Amino acid sequence: MKMRNGMLVLICSLFVVLGMTSCASNCPKCAACPDCPAAAEAPAKAEEPAKAEEPAAEAKQAKTETPIEVGGDEIVLPEPLPVSVTLTDSLKQRRSVRSYTEKMISLEQMSALLWSANGINREDGKRTAPSARNMQSVSIFVAFEKAAYRYDHKSHSLKKAADGDLRPVKAAPVEFIFTSNYDNEVIKGIDAGTASQNLALYCAAEGLGTVIRMMRGDQSELQKALQLEANDVPLFNMAVGYEAPAAQE
Ligand SMILES: Cc1cc2nc3c(=O)[nH]c(=O)nc-3n(C[C@H](O)[C@H](O)[C@H](O)COP(=O)(O)O)c2cc1C
Repeated sequence: MKMRNGMLVLICSLFVVLGMTSCASNCPKCAACPDCPAAAEAPAKAEEPAKAEEPAAEAKQAKTETPIEVGGDEIVLPEPLPVSVTLTDSLKQRRSVRSYTEKMISLEQMSALLWSANGINREDGKRTAPSARNMQSVSIFVAFEKAAYRYDHKSHSLKKAADGDLRPVKAAPVEFIFTSNYDNEVIKGIDAGTASQNLALYCAAEGLGTVIRMMRGDQSELQKALQLEANDVPLFNMAVGYEAPAAQE
């Protein structure tokens, strides 16, 4: 058998030397041999699929994490940055987190949180959350350990409302207080609730923890501290921060 194959290869090579375009069809090396003219006629090897393009260099850059300077009259927020997570992934991640580390969120995260919750998203000045009769009844306050600020959507900044620690739960370094001045209790909750879910989805997308908690008991002290009108009621708060690792058993 070895001998027969050797003979066939020899004949095949002879055909090639003589300039003939095809060789013995029963040559076991036909088309497999790179020098064989039949190899040239063999179907071209399928091309490798093109590799997906590498993400743009700027997308790979580390995120800027500017610390928030609490205490002044105003905290100017930078342009809110987009997140690269899909809405589906964010929905998959959303859950209540009740235990936080002491790490404060960055100025960039604060900006995107507030814009997501209820910032201006259109030329006509309307917002990311819907609003019953477009009354824009909701205000968002950001309570730090040192002071509390009201979100001013027009200037996309935080304006100081009070000194001192007005965090309702003090479970996280920062807690968001949602108020509404709508003249109907149910609509108050719906208006603020839609904005709260925007914030929760941003947190889930950004790997931050949050939990919504109803305000309990008399809120008149807090209303006074935040300089709210009588019908502008604190409804619930949302702690925001980094989830603490589960306690060791
Ligand atoms: C209107 C409302 C009030 C809530 N109040 C509290 C609360 O006071 N304390 C708390 O720990 N969680 C509170 N939660 C969170 C719920 O306990 C939580 O959403 C529920 O257990 C489902 O868990 P999940 O958010 O992880 O899906 C509240 C949720 C809603 C919608």
